[in-house]
Amino acid sequence: MASGSARRRIVRILSRPATTPLILAPMATITHAAFRVLVEEFGACDLYVSEMISAEAMIGGTSYEPYYTMSDPDPRRLVFQLVGYTEERIVEAASRLARTEAAGVDLNMGCSAPHIVRKGGGIAWMADPGAATRLVERARKAVGDRSLSVKLRLGATEDPQRLVGFCRTLESAGADFISLHPKTRKQSASRPARWSYVRLLREELAIPVIGNGGVTGEATLRSRLDEAGSGGVMIGRAAARAPWIFAYLRRRLRGDRSEYRVDLASVARRFFTLLEAHQPPDFLATRAARFVSYFTQNLAFGHALGARLGASRSYDRIREELFAYFEEHPEARIHVERG
Ligand SMILES: Cc1cc2nc3c(=O)[nH]c(=O)nc-3n(C[C@H](O)[C@H](O)[C@H](O)COP(=O)(O)O)c2cc1C
Repeated sequence: MASGSARRRIVRILSRPATTPLILAPMATITHAAFRVLVEEFGACDLYVSEMISAEAMIGGTSYEPYYTMSDPDPRRLVFQLVGYTEERIVEAASRLARTEAAGVDLNMGCSAPHIVRKGGGIAWMADPGAATRLVERARKAVGDRSLSVKLRLGATEDPQRLVGFCRTLESAGADFISLHPKTRKQSASRPARWSYVRLLREELAIPVIGNGGVTGEATLRSRLDEAGSGGVMIGRAAARAPWIFAYLRRRLRGDRSEYRVDLASVARRFFTLLEAHQPPDFLATRAARFVSYFTQNLAFGHALGARLGASRSYDRIREELFAYFEEHPEARIHVERG
């Protein structure tokens, strides 16, 4: 159960930049409770951000809410992310989330998916600093002793002064920390994130600034830290491919260069067991498909398999085909992490 010090604890974790806090990025259909438990079993993730939860759906009373608000593996290191279109609904949903066990609530002001932006959600909040500031002020009050944070992109265009001004107002409105994925609204997943903006915000703000984007392993982690200075690092897709990435990176940061081996078939088996325990039957196929499309990137010849299973709508078929692959190619089970 998150105690009265939930907020302080989160801020404390993020305020030790020298230790490079490692944070799991929010990813819709991926960073649900089952996946977070899998990551935790490998170890070394300092903070988990849930997949985005729709404020509208929450207020409307979805039957899936209990699944979205599971607090595994550790509520003291869990932040629930909210996405929404109106101040009223987001504030109401934030106050509901503050009654769960989780330690904090994060506001999604970075999502650039057109169906969300069109309705005024995600990065659309960055276009209206006044509305974004009011939202943070009210959400801050609504979450009480829980942390309140914001995840951002750069905005519609690159404008350092505007970005700093926007973030300063969020800070004065009560944001406890900010996560920055330094890309503009239209920059695609393959474009490199501009970590110099993470450095800029770290210099200009008093609150912790987490950097996010393009960390795929040790080399990219070290180069992002060089570019942005020390501080928290949030990892998304690399964790979906390799739920052990935090444990692996922590070892490397400590100077431990020993070989890191994983039995992929056992990881997959554990993932499916956790998925069945933490997700409703309706979600199994979509969540398994999404996970497998990243996880099969560990297989030398996994591209076609990943594409096929990623498009599948049958949970049983995804499981069966993946295990059939490991039966046929037993040598592919052992993965040595080199990320
Ligand atoms: C499948 C997927 C789902 C995502 N869902 C969310 C989300 O729910 N909320 C959010 O703020 N960002 C979301 N993102 C963006 C990630 O949190 C992160 O900013 C982005 O992937 C860049 O980090 P990476 O290079 O480490 O993957 C998602 C990204 C992916 C790939």
